[in-house]
Order: sequence, then structure tokens, then C-alpha cells
Amino acid sequence: MDINNKTIWITGASSGIGLELCRQLASKGARIILSARRRELLLEVAASLPGGLDRHWVVPLDLANSDNLGGIVQSSLADIGPVHILINNGGISQRSLFIDTDLSVYRQLMEVNYLGTVAMTKALLPGMVAQGQGMVVSVSSVAGKIGSKLRTGYSGSKFAVVGFMDCLRAETAEHGIQCLTVCPGSIQTNIAINALNEHGAAQNKNDDSILNGMSVEKCVQGIVKAMLNNNDEVVVGKGLSAIAPTIKRFFPALFNKISAKMEYR
Ligand SMILES: NC(=O)c1ccc[n+]([C@@H]2O[C@H](COP(=O)([O-])OP(=O)(O)OC[C@H]3O[C@@H](n4cnc5c(N)ncnc54)[C@H](OP(=O)(O)O)[C@@H]3O)[C@@H](O)[C@H]2O)c1
Repeated sequence: MDINNKTIWITGASSGIGLELCRQLASKGARIILSARRRELLLEVAASLPGGLDRHWVVPLDLANSDNLGGIVQSSLADIGPVHILINNGGISQRSLFIDTDLSVYRQLMEVNYLGTVAMTKALLPGMVAQGQGMVVSVSSVAGKIGSKLRTGYSGSKFAVVGFMDCLRAETAEHGIQCLTVCPGSIQTNIAINALNEHGAAQNKNDDSILNGMSVEKCVQGIVKAMLNNNDEVVVGKGLSAIAPTIKRFFPALFNKISAKMEYR
């Protein structure tokens, strides 16, 4: 799909992959609706994009409150007009062993990563169907394709996003809607710092895998390329994190052995 003059709603626009998506897509002529919880940060980002706050909008929201998202979207659409592309990017990760982790952490991960995605899509898809075209992009993860230690809740929520998108793609093809699932490997953002510990607090420290991961600029170049090419799914990353889904697919027993041997402490 062409990007120029398209209106693109991006969640998780205050940081990392979402922030870089705003930059790269705005530089290709898109008008961006920026969403996340931190309003001041979103305003700063929007003001820094070409055309600034005259061209782009800020709509703060909390993906954990999925029941409220439909109302927030509807009241914004009256001012903004039709949305052509939705990018469900906002999300939160986890670093804790299943045996130690409170049930509330699983609920929070599903609310933000999965139900937030479903609710935003539910709010914006009818407009796309009415236009006879549109695109839904959901940022899952390599952890939505394979399992590894410390991520039982995160992986569960991201596998759910992959399944949701596969079904949505099948249902919406006849309406001219493109559905792209993005599975990043390790990307240099704040994802590990913000990842939840066993009690649902941010772990507040980085991981070597993220520090040595792909740059966010290169990751977003891969996502934008997949959007322009109307791809159904794309894995973006480097090293083991990029090839892990292929190893798991063709050599599942080998992959499971490697995964069980990985150090995590
Ligand atoms: N970096 C990686 O290695 C990696 C790998 C695979 C997949 N991903 C996925 O990529 C997406 C973007 O993450 P990132 O790497 O860019 O991490 P990040 O730098 O921590 O950014 C996360 C974004 O999500 C927003 N967010 C978090 N909780 C939210 C909530 N309850 N409501 C609304 N917005 C919320 C944050 O904004 P506020 O805090 O302002 O709300 C922020 O803008 C996530 O879905 C993540 O799972 C990342």
C-alpha cells in the first residue's frame, strides 16, 4: 500500500519501534495519529514530525483498558476523518519464571498485548471496510512464533496476536483489507527495561540480547518495506532471534532442546 497522504494510527508511539515508525512513515508523507499513555511525550514526538501538530494528532490511551478504546477512537474520528492504516504496536514484555509469576501478570500481558490489539482493530476496521480498503499491522514478536524461558505470559499474548491476525486476514481479504503480522527479534528499545517481573513491576534493567539486537531504524525499515509490499507476515531481526522461527518449524525437537539449555540467570 502507498503511504503518501495516508492517515495512520500508531499505538506505542511514545518510544522504540512506534516512535521510529512515526518518523519513517511521516517522512513518506503520512499523517500520524499517535497513541500511548504518556501524553507529553506523544506531543513532543508529534511536534518533531514534518508538519508538526498541524498535521498529526495525539490521542492518549491505555491499552489495558480495552473497554474504553472504542469510545476514545469514535470520538477522535469525528475530528480526524477516515483512518487508512492501523498499527497495533504498543506492548509490554515479561522477564520471570512461570513458577514465580502472579496470575495478575498474565492478565495484564493479555489485556495490553492481545485485547488492546483486538479492541483497537474492532474500533477501526469498520471504517476500512466502508472505504473498501485499508491495512491492519500488528506487532507480535518472534516470541509469538517460538517459546523461550522467562516469557510464558508474553509469548502467550504474542502467539494470540499471530492467531488473531491469521483469522482476520482470511475474513477481511474480500473487503480489500491487508493484514500484516510483524515478528521482531531482539530490537534495541526499552522493551526489556519496561518488561514485567513476577509481581508486575518493571524490571528496570536491560538484557544483553536487546543491547546487541538490531537497531530500531533498521527494524522499522523492514516493517515499512513489508507494508509497501503488502506482505502477510515479516520477521525482522538479526542472529538467532531472526532464524529461530525457521529452526523451530523445520527442526522442532532440536529447537526445544536448545531452548531448554539457554542460560537465563
Ligand atoms: N524490542 C524488541 O526486542 C521487541 C521484540 C519483539 C516484539 N516487540 C514488540 O514491539 C512493540 C513495541 O515495543 P518496543 O520494543 O518499541 O518497546 P518500548 O520502547 O518499551 O515501547 C513500548 C511502547 O508501548 C507503549 N505501551 C506500553 N504499555 C501500554 C499501555 N498499557 N497502553 C498504551 N501504550 C502502552 C509505550 O508507551 P507508554 O509507556 O507511553 O504508554 C511505548 O510507546 C511491542 O508490542 C513489543 O512487544 C519488541
